[in-house]
Amino acid sequence: MGEVTAAARHGGSDGPGIPALRCVDLAKHYPSRRRQPTVMALRGVSFEVPAGSTFGVVGESGCGKSTLARLLVGLEAPTSGAVEIAGRRVDTGPRSDRRALARRIQLVFQDPFSSLDPRMPVARALDEVLRFHHLHDDRRDERVVELLDMVALGGRFARRYPHELSGGQAQRVAIARALAVEPQVLVLDEPTSALDVSVRAEIMNLLVRIQDELRLSYLFISHDLSMVRHVSDDIAVMYLGRVVEVGRYDAVLDAPMHPYTRALADAVPVPDPDAKRTSHEARAVSHGGRADPPPEPASARDVDDEHACAFLPRCPVAERVCGERAPRLAPAAAGHEVSCHVASAAAGLGPADR
Ligand SMILES: Nc1ncnc2c1ncn2[C@@H]1O[C@H](COP(=O)(O)OP(=O)(O)OP(=O)(O)O)[C@@H](O)[C@H]1O
Ligand code: SF4
Ligand SMILES: [Mg+2]
Repeated sequence: MGEVTAAARHGGSDGPGIPALRCVDLAKHYPSRRRQPTVMALRGVSFEVPAGSTFGVVGESGCGKSTLARLLVGLEAPTSGAVEIAGRRVDTGPRSDRRALARRIQLVFQDPFSSLDPRMPVARALDEVLRFHHLHDDRRDERVVELLDMVALGGRFARRYPHELSGGQAQRVAIARALAVEPQVLVLDEPTSALDVSVRAEIMNLLVRIQDELRLSYLFISHDLSMVRHVSDDIAVMYLGRVVEVGRYDAVLDAPMHPYTRALADAVPVPDPDAKRTSHEARAVSHGGRADPPPEPASARDVDDEHACAFLPRCPVAERVCGERAPRLAPAAAGHEVSCHVASAAAGLGPADR
């Protein structure tokens, strides 16, 4: 295994208190097509990721996780709002500065093969990135081997083509490719969910080790709370394009406040089957307390969440106010924010109007 030298550590802090990544009121609307309404994929998301930490983002399919990932790494422009890396906005300033800033954040996709060219052997894929960014120009071959060592593959994989790799090996190459540009932040969009269950833990352990060695910051996306709970310092729960709860991982997991987070937490498998609800009960809660077949999942297309809570159709504890006013994300305890009228009232705060 190649040793990580101090010079190779590209993460770390840019100064006391400066978050590695921050987004402010980030929104993304996809314009209507064929008389379909506009898709409000993201509806104003704000958070920050302290340097060297892992920020978990969790939510069901369609809530906007991948849209968020694409905006953060600049693959798409937001409709409104801003992304800051190390305290600097990525959309302002001279072009050269913006390019240098963009290099600091890299995305690892769910499907590793989607980021690898099937006609290109592993070494060339890595070499190409180094060449493009003029990195290690005098020792690129050596650097390619270092990168392969970093993801525990080794130089013997250098000549392989993507079709000669397993899913886990391909994801290691995709991670090496992201690391080649020496980023400070990795956005990991469900990096293990397309892989065999048997290799998921290996990739997770690899990511944890790399983070430690390179002092990287992670934004770790998953639809599965049980996945983010082991790696995250902070967790944001998303529902239909908004963050509905955010806080330190233990606060969100041990004392979830939003009914949606509680349903997600209850569905997490626990060793003692008597310690939590049955999965049937958990499902009933997550679909509005009904035991009969759940309604069609609400879509980002059809919720007017300016005048009511978007979770209302599925909420088992809704009150009248929930249909009259939309809640907003508000502090409910130390380091813990929630967007829910009932949770805010239970925490002794006023109505959480938006
Ligand atoms: N290019 C696009 N054009 C129109 N709508 C889009 C586009 N990309 C995403 N959407 C819509 O935006 C919403 C959020 O999609 P997104 O892929 O971000 O969700 P997700 O949380 O990543 O879901 P999953 O867990 O299935 O990956 C969905 O309603 C989706 O259909
Ligand atoms: S605001 Fe009301 S409807 Fe929305 S999650 Fe809270 S209790 Fe449920
Ligand atoms: Mg996605």
